[in-house]
This record gives sequence, structure tokens and C-alpha cells, in this order.
Amino acid sequence: MLNAIGSKVDLSDGEASDYHYLVADLLESKTVLQMREYTHHGDTTCFQHCLNVSYYNYKVCRFFSLNERAGARAGLLHDLFLYDWHTYKRPKGERLHGFTHAKAALRNVRENFYVSDLESDMIEKHMFPLNITALPKYRETLVIVLVDKYCGLLETVIPRLKKLSSLFVKIGAGFGKASAK
Ligand SMILES: [Fe+2]
Ligand SMILES: [Fe+2]
Repeated sequence: MLNAIGSKVDLSDGEASDYHYLVADLLESKTVLQMREYTHHGDTTCFQHCLNVSYYNYKVCRFFSLNERAGARAGLLHDLFLYDWHTYKRPKGERLHGFTHAKAALRNVRENFYVSDLESDMIEKHMFPLNITALPKYRETLVIVLVDKYCGLLETVIPRLKKLSSLFVKIGAGFGKASAK
């Protein structure tokens, strides 16, 4: 079962999700699945993050009658840089991961898949405005810029809130035991 963060829709099931048909080939690709080996935000893998961005890109593009196929596919490929950025040793002179990984992802994507100009723009410029010179050319690129940040925030905040709430439950249970004595 594959779910985007905050959604119960099974994205691995073509029966349950129109989304699935748009990315079925990518979801079976070894190169895409390789992203499961790398953590990205908190405990979230790069694959799960890309799935989250892909699904919400698809939903937002569909809502605004934009290119939902490009939204889904570029979302799933946008962070295909294929290394663990936490431990990555930058060659001398190379800029920080935040500035370089979008281009690295696009390079890997082009080596492995066909991508349209629109999808390329979405992948290459998803880090705007950090990469201030990579100005989005399409409305779909603005969507991925926002959805990527939204998903990154959810992936960072939700696990912390869960930990915090389980801590409160434990503290509450401790008080319960103490007052029962
Ligand atoms: Fe990224
Ligand atoms: Fe991302």
C-alpha cells in the first residue's frame, strides 16, 4: 500500500486512484525505487517525499485545470539526486546541496526517462526562490515550488507532533497511576 502523507488513498492501486495510471511506469522503475534508500526530511525517505509532492501536485494541478500528468510525474522525479545529502561529501568548490540537487536530479531524470520541457522546468526550478536565478516559466512550476515546501514542512512537523502527543499520553498515564495510589 502506498499513501501520500495525510491521505488514505492507496496510490499503488489503479482501481482506487486515477493518479496511479499517470505514474505507474515510474513506480516500477528501479531508479525511482532507489530513492527508498535515502532519508530526506526527518524519518521520511526521498521516495516518500517525492510521492507526497507528486500526489499533491497532481491534486492541485487538477483543481486548477493545469497539467496534472506533469504535476504527478515531475513531482515523483523532482528529487532524484540519488545520494544521502546528510552524509554526502561535496567535492571542493561545489555549492551546498540546496543549490545543486535540482540540477543533479534533472540530469539523472534525463538519463533514465523521457521528460517534457514543462516537467524539466518543474524539476530544475523546484528550489525557487533559494535558487533565485532559476525563475519558474510555467504555472505548474509555481505549484511544485509551493507543494514541495508544504510537504517538507508536514514531513518535519507531523512526526514531531506525534512524538510530543505520545509523550503527553505517557505523562497522562503516569499521573493516572500516581493519583490511583
Ligand atoms: Fe528538492
Ligand atoms: Fe523536494
